[in-house]
Amino acid sequence: MSPMGLRIRPNVRRMEPYSPGKPVSEVKRELGLESVVKLASNENPLGPSPKAVEAVRRAAESMHVYPDGSAYELRQALARRFGLSGRQILLGNGSDELIHLLGLVFLGSPEDEMVVGDPSFVRYDAAAQLADCRLVKVPLNSDLVHDLGAMARAVTPRTKMVFVANPNNPTGTIVRKAEVDAFLRDLPDGVLLVLDEAYFEFAADVPDFPNSLDYVREGRPVVGLRTFSKAYGLAGIRIGYGFAPEEVVDAVDRAREPFDVNSLAQAAAVAALEDGEHVARTVANNREGAGRIAEVLREAGARVFPTYANFVYADLGRPAQPVFEALLLQGVIVRTATTMGSPTGLRVSVGTPEEVDRFVDAFRKVVASW
Ligand SMILES: Cc1ncc(COP(=O)(O)O)c(C=O)c1O
Repeated sequence: MSPMGLRIRPNVRRMEPYSPGKPVSEVKRELGLESVVKLASNENPLGPSPKAVEAVRRAAESMHVYPDGSAYELRQALARRFGLSGRQILLGNGSDELIHLLGLVFLGSPEDEMVVGDPSFVRYDAAAQLADCRLVKVPLNSDLVHDLGAMARAVTPRTKMVFVANPNNPTGTIVRKAEVDAFLRDLPDGVLLVLDEAYFEFAADVPDFPNSLDYVREGRPVVGLRTFSKAYGLAGIRIGYGFAPEEVVDAVDRAREPFDVNSLAQAAAVAALEDGEHVARTVANNREGAGRIAEVLREAGARVFPTYANFVYADLGRPAQPVFEALLLQGVIVRTATTMGSPTGLRVSVGTPEEVDRFVDAFRKVVASW
């Protein structure tokens, strides 16, 4: 109850605030540690592209001027890169904002339904809760892959949107093209499929990966979400994008704030997009590091799921919280999947080779004390 008798909407009161990975500075302070590595937020361990850093330095000189609200240059660069028109490009203050805006645009009443996988990215739940609509959570299959057959069966005449994170967070698993094709074939008119490809660059070389871009080009009711936060290393400046039918872009444009993508983010993204080498280095580092993390988890008897993202997910077969705490005492921050409903799940973001060494050593010590 509000002490002032204010009438905050009950669905908002019921929402859990987002709980981010523990910040390095907080862990250093609390535990008196000199050196802490954070493998908890799926960031780019190699940092941003130096070209993006330079572009931000230059753009900083003009930060007294409002940004270009249409982000013309970035929109055109993305349109050219992906062979779409600028009117099919979504831009947001992180893809988080695009998820939020899709919720505002499509969900409006308690009768509306939205279908998501479980566990999957928690911000989909927030979009549904904010709209006070019905969130239908469909468990992943036993390989922790989205069960598109079961999700199709969960669609009703009230369903407005279906969200599939591909690769999925927290599990790192993917659905394949044949499954998405079949899902779309049976999807009733009026339902939008959102393929959230935040980790696309790490899965791009999988031959039967269902690229959202192809569906949008074919004029299907599909939105593809991408981000500069992961492979491009721009998480702190907040810039996400997507591909969508023109009418969806038009609706999102009406709902969004006029200057949601700031000028530094626009400049950083244009420069980062040109730095394919940085992305290639990032993907190569990721492959190497993910392999080593998976190996040490497997050695400990955990069930490690094949990852197509920049983190490794494992079912430890025992509560993950004490493991998280024991790693923390050694200055290694990882993430449990407890808030995502899987108390034995541990998610480890891939770091630099040195950060992965830190994790491997710390984890072996934890296992030795089991
Ligand atoms: C599946 C998924 N979608 C979207 C996001 C949000 O990314 P952004 O930084 O672009 O808001 C994340 C971030 O972790 C994610 O895992």
